Amino acid sequence: MINKYPLVFLCCLFYQIQFIGSQTREVILLDKDWKFKKGKSLEAHKTSFDTSSWETVSVPHDWAIYGPFNKDIDKQVVAIEQNGEQIATEKTGRTGALPYIGEAWYRKNFQIPEFDTNKRVLIVFEGAMSEPEIFVNGKKVGEWKYGYSYFYFDITNYINASEENLLAVKLTNMGLSSRWYPGAGLFRKVQLIVTQKTSFKQWNTFITTPLITDSLAQINIKSEVIGKPLRLETEIYNAENNLIVSNSSDVLFGDKFEENLGVKNPKLWSPESPYLYTAKLKLYDDKGLVDEITQRFGIRRISYQPNKGFSLNGKIRKFKGVCLHHDLGPLGVAVNKAALKRQLRILKDMGCDAIRSAHNMPSIEQLELCDEMGFMFIAESFDEWAKPKVKNGYNRFFNDYAEKDVVNLVGATRNHPCIVMWSAGNEVPDQWGAEGVKRAKWLQDIFHREDPTRPVTVGMDQVEATMASGFGALLDIPGLNYRVHLYEEAYKRFPQGFILGSETASTVSSRGIYKFPVERASMKTYDDYQSSSYDLEHCSWSNLPDDDFVLQDDKPWVIGEFVWTGFDYLGEPTPYDEVWPSRSSYFGINDLAGLPKDRYYLYRSRWNTNDNTLHILPHWNWEGREGETTPVFVYTNYNSAELFLNGKSLGVQRKNSASPQNRYRLMWMDVNYEPGTLKVVAFDDGGNPAAEKEIRTSGKPHKISLKPDRMVINADGKDLAFITVSVEDKNGIPCPTATNQLEFRVNGAGTFRAVCNGDATSLEPFHLPTMKLFSGKLVVVIQSSDKAGDITLEVKGDDLKEGILRLKASKVKQNM
Ligand code: GAL
Repeated sequence: MINKYPLVFLCCLFYQIQFIGSQTREVILLDKDWKFKKGKSLEAHKTSFDTSSWETVSVPHDWAIYGPFNKDIDKQVVAIEQNGEQIATEKTGRTGALPYIGEAWYRKNFQIPEFDTNKRVLIVFEGAMSEPEIFVNGKKVGEWKYGYSYFYFDITNYINASEENLLAVKLTNMGLSSRWYPGAGLFRKVQLIVTQKTSFKQWNTFITTPLITDSLAQINIKSEVIGKPLRLETEIYNAENNLIVSNSSDVLFGDKFEENLGVKNPKLWSPESPYLYTAKLKLYDDKGLVDEITQRFGIRRISYQPNKGFSLNGKIRKFKGVCLHHDLGPLGVAVNKAALKRQLRILKDMGCDAIRSAHNMPSIEQLELCDEMGFMFIAESFDEWAKPKVKNGYNRFFNDYAEKDVVNLVGATRNHPCIVMWSAGNEVPDQWGAEGVKRAKWLQDIFHREDPTRPVTVGMDQVEATMASGFGALLDIPGLNYRVHLYEEAYKRFPQGFILGSETASTVSSRGIYKFPVERASMKTYDDYQSSSYDLEHCSWSNLPDDDFVLQDDKPWVIGEFVWTGFDYLGEPTPYDEVWPSRSSYFGINDLAGLPKDRYYLYRSRWNTNDNTLHILPHWNWEGREGETTPVFVYTNYNSAELFLNGKSLGVQRKNSASPQNRYRLMWMDVNYEPGTLKVVAFDDGGNPAAEKEIRTSGKPHKISLKPDRMVINADGKDLAFITVSVEDKNGIPCPTATNQLEFRVNGAGTFRAVCNGDATSLEPFHLPTMKLFSGKLVVVIQSSDKAGDITLEVKGDDLKEGILRLKASKVKQNM
């Protein structure tokens, strides 16, 4: 068990289990040629059922993302208690206004090659939205409840030897079951794992590093097995694929092998240097090799200590984190590695080093990428325990499933070096009352039992209640959601000696939209249902980025923050929860299309310490505002700068402590608008000009410009290219207010996959090849086919010079 204080966790962790050697085990990915149908009482598990009218789909799949948006879907007449509401009102876009509710069936035929009585077959799901019921050859195998959970069943006894087998999955989504767009369907991988009867037990191999010094790391591997193996052989390879140490063990403690291997001069994993090792584990019985697993792992040391805070590999640091919901904007919730990787590239450039999977289990793909690219991770489990936030939420399952869900979360993911903390919940209403305190302890103990190497947090919004009840005191890590005014008191009253900003800011903005007068406001709304990108608007319970920066910078006992949110997400359109057609969030640092809002540069100016940031806002196309006060903000890591409008100096601004905003932003509040060129020159601390940036008033939209994130993608039928589409005037100046309707055509070795403009009020479907620009931009997503070759994107719009882009799909593996 964890010793309470100081909390020091030493870990070496390994990676998603992958398998080689078909004589020992085979992993069959069930991705293509599923049959899908939505509707009630389809009795699809009956083998004679005719699927000729069913759609053929690939998995991961989200049946609801194709819309249409409809305000009546999941219209929730509720008072959102955690937002301080007391009177129920109608919330239209709360879950995205997309058709996720209802029943649907997936069916898939499969064969198990060379199936015999010595084989075991598991069916493994990494998430199924939701309440999955699994049938094989007409018989019910089992069911689960929570859509985000990983789970598996042993289906050996349901298999028809060497014949076609039929897998059917029924999913049921109830309305009033979520606070955001949950998506719908088999939205994560489904796999069959075929092993011999003697094998490694699924999700039951665990590696830790009880000791790490400069010269040696102790790698402790505990592997549970099924059957009667005689011997385990383990080899560890470095990132260059050289064998560095091996071990053989023939001592079985019950059903577990336990080994200790020494890695000399270990290279430690960190966000800056995400070094991964590989372990190969081979299991033998009296007839020879029976099972083999290959896993990557990292070696790193985490500790959380009173007053010192968090340290990684002995160095104190603060989390520069963001919370992310699981949807991928226009792609819905269907997991796609290229889309996840693009998000992480954008966050990396911002200087972000940590992710919190709000408020549920992350995809395995996201964890793999965080291991590889270097992001620390809080893996969260629940948004509700036994007390409801929404009527049909997880509260219905908590008593029967919470332990199983946590066991599977930890078992399936505890070997990822990126995970540095578990979260047992978010703002659970169980923060009130003695039962909740017991539940918090019970859940934390389960996490500790399954993984003694990492601490547990809960994101708390009822900070006063949790100070009074002992709820906050018992957690390894007290996580505060907002409540900046209570940090100091919580630090004094909680015994841990540090506070985590588990959720911060919840500032709202719409990309490229600016409102006047420029002033700080709470729950501010406008007739166009947008929020101002001067980054001064927040919710009644939340605050501005700078308010958090003050705590992060001035309080050594604050161990970091997780901003709500890194990207906009579908649903929860606060402050427009009650008006249609708002249907996606305004909280993102990046919009729903993944395009940076101004706030991106505010965080980048602090977080990215390798590169300079110099960003001006607003845009400079204000026809009709001539002579009116139009404040200019500059987000930069430099401490002072001079602003020029059409060559005339508007003075030097210096960061100062007059207010949190003055401390982190350069602001010229009295600029009178005139069209032309706005230029900023930033100074280094010696007062020398160090960098400059200018923006110009554009003329009318003239031509279309296309900028892909990658020029070559993998010809694997899954990879994606994201093309930012904008329009420019005759002189090549971007038109920041353009709203032209555009049409897209994709030819060659790829297909049009989706489009998104980041407008939270747009009802244009994501999957049709036409959309209006929003604040002069949108993003087109192209998917590769499985053929190599050229892909052409043509973009047209009335009175605009067409844009044409040529990409390539290649069979030579591309770094995504
Ligand atoms: C928090 C909550 C998040 C989201 C956010 C919006 O209270 O944990 O899920 O609702 O507020 O500000």
